[in-house]
Amino acid sequence: MRLIPLNNAKEVGLWSARYISDRINKFQPTADKPFILGLPTGGTPLTTYKRLIELYEAGEVSFKHVVTFNMDEYIGITADHPESYRSFMYNNFFNHIDIKEENINLLNGNADDVDAECQRYEAKIKSYGRINLFMGGVGNDGHIAFNEPASSLASRTRIKTLTQDTRIANSRFFDNDINQVPKYALTIGVGTLLDSAEIMILVTGHNKALALEAAVEGNVNHLWTVSALQLHPKALIVCDEPATQEL
Ligand code: GLP
Repeated sequence: MRLIPLNNAKEVGLWSARYISDRINKFQPTADKPFILGLPTGGTPLTTYKRLIELYEAGEVSFKHVVTFNMDEYIGITADHPESYRSFMYNNFFNHIDIKEENINLLNGNADDVDAECQRYEAKIKSYGRINLFMGGVGNDGHIAFNEPASSLASRTRIKTLTQDTRIANSRFFDNDINQVPKYALTIGVGTLLDSAEIMILVTGHNKALALEAAVEGNVNHLWTVSALQLHPKALIVCDEPATQEL
């Protein structure tokens, strides 16, 4: 595992954006051979998305031949709800770059048959071989995507019940009212993530310090699902100084 400690959250955003654009450019994607990029939501990657948009506007990267897969989506809010992960991705990223609509993949949290939806998503990822680079964030309790503590490290895309801690943490996006935060979500599994050729996790802020410690210094264990990164041959953690305080 490679750990890139930087001074602050802004540097993490700039570094990760440059890393993604370099990877895409080096790959030289075409319509027949697109670059497959996994993406997260949350506060942490916002600077990365902002910088990627700037790089796109400056002509330094194009998303014309990039296919994206998002990590997760809430169940119980409409797709056009301002806090759905679909809305987040279009508002903060997709609406501002040259990605083709048909190349955007998001889980449908309103599917009638959620199991079928999860299987569809797994099959779609497999149809491309594998994801070239998956970017992610981490929850305070070390969850990646919505793989809450005690998720199987071999898990695939499925429905998860959100923990009280996660709902409290995410209530800041729902008028600080936990009752408005969905109780369930669809999420890629830890196993789905580990199948990616490369994984880059962003960790910023002192509230993520225990998660970073578990990821880097703890044992691989299902109570801190981010620790599964230790099983991956090409995992990268980009963090800021406040997140390192338990190392
Ligand atoms: C949610 C998402 C995760 C994300 C986490 C941390 O639980 N499902 O993918 O990593 O929040 O978000 P933030 O970056 O806002 O701290």
